[in-house]
Amino acid sequence: MGKQKRIGILTSGGDCPGLNAVIRAAVSHATLTYGWEVVGIPYATQGLLEGKTTPLTVHCFDLRGIDPLLSMSGTILGTINKGDTLARSSEILASYEALGLDALIAIGGDGSIKILHELARQGSWNLVAIPKTIDNDVALTERSVGFDTAVNTIADAMYRLTFTSASHDRVTIVEVMGRKAGHLALQAGIAGGADCILIPEIPYTIAGVCQKIDELRDRWGRKFAIIVVAEGAGSANDLPGVETQDLASLQCGMGQYIANQIASNDRDRLDVRVSVLGHIQRGGIPSALDRLIATAFGKAAVDLIDREQFDRMVAWQNGRVAAVAIEDVLARSPLFVDPNSYLVETARALGVYVGEGERERGREGEEGEEF
Ligand code: F6P
Repeated sequence: MGKQKRIGILTSGGDCPGLNAVIRAAVSHATLTYGWEVVGIPYATQGLLEGKTTPLTVHCFDLRGIDPLLSMSGTILGTINKGDTLARSSEILASYEALGLDALIAIGGDGSIKILHELARQGSWNLVAIPKTIDNDVALTERSVGFDTAVNTIADAMYRLTFTSASHDRVTIVEVMGRKAGHLALQAGIAGGADCILIPEIPYTIAGVCQKIDELRDRWGRKFAIIVVAEGAGSANDLPGVETQDLASLQCGMGQYIANQIASNDRDRLDVRVSVLGHIQRGGIPSALDRLIATAFGKAAVDLIDREQFDRMVAWQNGRVAAVAIEDVLARSPLFVDPNSYLVETARALGVYVGEGERERGREGEEGEEF
C-alpha cells in the first residue's frame, strides 16, 4: 500500500442514472484497495467554493445490509449545471487548497470537465474525469454513464405509445433530450422502432416526414406512426432550402413545432399527439450496462490517481476502459452523430425517415491508451 491519500469526488452538470454507482465504486476501491480517505464535495463547484465536504465510506448508505447506491438514480452529492464558476476561480482555488486534497475525481459532461480542467490548470490540481451524460456527446468515449438507461427509458416509452397510437390511428411525436446532439434520438429511435427520427445533424423536410406517414398508410395499411424528435432537431436551420427553424425562435418545443408543421402541411386531417419525455429520461434505475460502466470507470479513476496519471478522462473504447487526455476530449467535444454512420444507414435500410443530406460530418472516435 502506497502513501495515504485524501481524495475528493464530485458530480457536476445535469444528473443521470449511474452517478451513485460511480461514487460507490470509487469509494470502495480507494478505501479497500489503497486505504485512502474519500470525501464528497456537495453541489460540485458550489461545494468547492464554500470549501464543503461530506465523508464517504464503504457502505455509507447501508440499509439493513443493503447498499442502494449501485441502483439509485440521481446523485447523493447533489449537482449544479449553471453558475459563474470561472469568474470566482480565485476563491475556489483558495478553498480547494484548504481542503488538503491529493486528487479530485470529477464526474461530469464536457461542459463541467472543461470548467474543472481550467480550474485544475490554474491551481495545479491533480484531476481525473469520468464522463457522464444522457446526451452521450463527450468525445473519445463510446459511452458516457447514464446514456444507456436513457435509451432504455425512451424505448420503453415508445413501446407504450405504440399501442395507444395504433388504437386511435394517431401520429405520435416523441420529443427527447440531447441538446444539439442526436445520439439519444437516433439510438432510442432505432431500438424503439420509430418510423421517423429527426436529429440536429441531419436536416429534415416536413414533406419527407409526411411522405413517410402517407407511405405507411397507402402501401402498408398502417394508420399510425411514431416520430422521434431530438429537442435540438431545429438547429439545422443554417442549411438553405431546409424547412427547419432555430430552437431559440420557437415558441414551443421541437415536438410541438413538428406537430404544427404537419398540421399546416395539408395534414390537419391527421390526429397528432406530442409526448415530451423531459426529465423522466434522467431518472429511473440505472441499466445493468450503466452500472457496469459506472463501476469500471470509478475503479479506473482511482487507479489513475494511484499511478499519478492526471489530466486524464476514463473512457469506454471497444468494450474496455481506456484513459485519454482531457485536452484531447475537449478539443473534440461535443461529439455529434456522423450522418454517414452505420446506425444512420441501418435506420434507412429499414425504411425509417432520418432526414435528408447532412449538416456536419461528426468527429470520428480515436483510441486512447489501453487501461
Ligand atoms: O445535458 C443533459 C440534459 O438533460 C440535456 O439533454 C437537456 O437539454 C438538458 O440537460 C436539460 O437541462 P436542465 O436540467 O437544466 O433542464
